[in-house]
Amino acid sequence: MNKNIVILGTQWGDEGKGKVVDCLTKDSSYVVRYQGGHNAGHTLVVNDKKIILHLIPSGLLHKNVIGIIANGVVVSPFELIKEIKMLETHNIFVHKRLFISNSSPLILQYHIEMDIAREKKLGISALGTTGRGIGPAYEDKIARRALRIGDLKNEKTLSIRLEKIVNYYNHQLVSFYKHKPVDYKIILRDLLPTIDLIYDMIKDTTSILHTAIQSNKKIIFEGAQGSFLDIDHGTYPYVTSSNSTIGGVITGTGVGSKSLDYILGVTKAYSTRVGYGPFPTELFDDVDKHFSKKGHEFGSTTGRKRRTGWLDAVALCRSVRINSLSGLCITKLDVLDGLHEIKICTAYKNINTLEIISFPDIDEWKNIEPIYETYPGWNKKTLGIKKLIDLPYEARNYINRIEEITQIPVDIISTGPDRSDIIFVRDIFFIKK
Ligand code: GDP
Ligand code: IMO
Ligand code: MG
Repeated sequence: MNKNIVILGTQWGDEGKGKVVDCLTKDSSYVVRYQGGHNAGHTLVVNDKKIILHLIPSGLLHKNVIGIIANGVVVSPFELIKEIKMLETHNIFVHKRLFISNSSPLILQYHIEMDIAREKKLGISALGTTGRGIGPAYEDKIARRALRIGDLKNEKTLSIRLEKIVNYYNHQLVSFYKHKPVDYKIILRDLLPTIDLIYDMIKDTTSILHTAIQSNKKIIFEGAQGSFLDIDHGTYPYVTSSNSTIGGVITGTGVGSKSLDYILGVTKAYSTRVGYGPFPTELFDDVDKHFSKKGHEFGSTTGRKRRTGWLDAVALCRSVRINSLSGLCITKLDVLDGLHEIKICTAYKNINTLEIISFPDIDEWKNIEPIYETYPGWNKKTLGIKKLIDLPYEARNYINRIEEITQIPVDIISTGPDRSDIIFVRDIFFIKK
C-alpha cells in the first residue's frame, strides 16, 4: 500500500495540482507544502465555491487533516495570516492543525521591493516573476543571511538582524536600482503583531513528519510550480528559485526518498505557461483562444493571461525521468471538448540543421520547431465524467497515446474544476510498488 504520495507539476505550473491534492487528501492525515511560496496559486472548487490558496496546503479543506509548511517553503507571515483569515470566512479553521517549520526563510517587504526593482531594470529581458519576493528570499537562504520563521521567537535579536539586513538591501535598492528604500522600523512594527498569531504553529516539522511516518500515517506532499520552472532542471533563467522537481520534497521536508511511495505527475491535457521563457508548442491562433476561454487560462496569483499550446510530450517524457514518476494525472481533459483535431508534440527539430534533438540548451530553444502527431477530437462533453468507460472513444485514445509515449500509466483524469469531476482509473493508494 502507498502511504506517502507526492503530487507535483510536470509542465510550467498551473496543471491543477491544488484540485488533485484536495481530492487525494480526503483519505490522508497530513498535507505538506515543501517548496516555493505565495507565488503559487492553487484553486479548489467545492460545490461551486472557489478558494485559491497560495501558501496554505490545499488539503486543509478536509477538517481532520494536519497541514505542514515545511522548511523548503519561503514564508510571508502577512500572506499566511491573510489566508488563515480568508479560510475562516469559509468556516475552515486551521488552529492546532497547521504547523510551520522554524527553518523556513521569511519573505519580507525588502524581498518584494527587490523582486520588483530587478524586473523593472531588466526591461525587455525581465523574467515575468510573480513579484512576490521569491527569488530574493531564496538568495538570502543560500547566502546564509536569511531571517527564518524560528527567528520570530526572539524579538531582540530579530530587531538587530532586521536592521542589518535592511541596510544591506537599501544600499542596493537605492544606489543600484534607483528604487525607494524600505524602513526597518515599519517592517518590525508590522511584523511584531503577526508573531503572536503564528507563534504556536512554529515547530520542527521534520520531527512531526518522522513521527507521522513511524505511525503509518498517510501523507500527501504538495508541489508548487512545475518541473520546467525548477531552478536546476527548468528553462533557466526563466524559472523560479526553488526545486519544484522531486528533489525539493527531500531537502524541503527532511523526509528521505525511501519514505516516498508513489509520485504523481499532474499534467494538463495541453500546455500553458505564465511569464516569459521557452515554450515550443505555443499557439497564437483560434486554438489558443479556445484554451484561454474554455480553460479560463488566467493566472490564479497575478491574473495574467497564460500562454497556451499543445501538449509537449518531449518535455513530459523528460519530466517523467527527472521525477521518477509512478503515474500521471491528466487534468482539464474537458477543455479539449469540441476541438476538431488534437496534437501532441513528439519531437523537436532544429530549424537550421533539420536534426531531431533530444532536449535543447537555453540557446537552442529559439531554433527548435515542434513535430506533431495529430489525432481526431471529439464533440461529446466530457465535463464532469466520473468513469473511464463514459469518455468518448477519441478521448480514451488520446489518454492511451500519452501512456504509450511516456511509458507510465495515467492513473487519474480530471474532467472539470470541481472536486467531484474526477476519474480514478486506479486507486493509487493501493498500487504495489
Ligand atoms: P495549480 O497551480 O496547479 O493548482 O493550478 P491552478 O489552480 O493555478 O490552475 C488550474 C485551473 O484549472 C484552476 O482554475 C482550476 O479550478 C482549474 N481546473 C483544475 N482541474 C480542471 C479540470 O479538470 N477541468 C477544468 N475545466 N478546469 C480545471
Ligand atoms: P503554481 O504552484 C505558474 C512563474 C512566474 C515566472 C517564474 C518566476 O500555481 O503552479 P517567481 O515569482 O517564482 O520568481 O517567478 O515562475 N511561476 C509560476 N507559473 N504557476 C506557478 O505556481 C508559478 N510560480 C511561479 O510566472 O515566470
Ligand atoms: Mg497555479
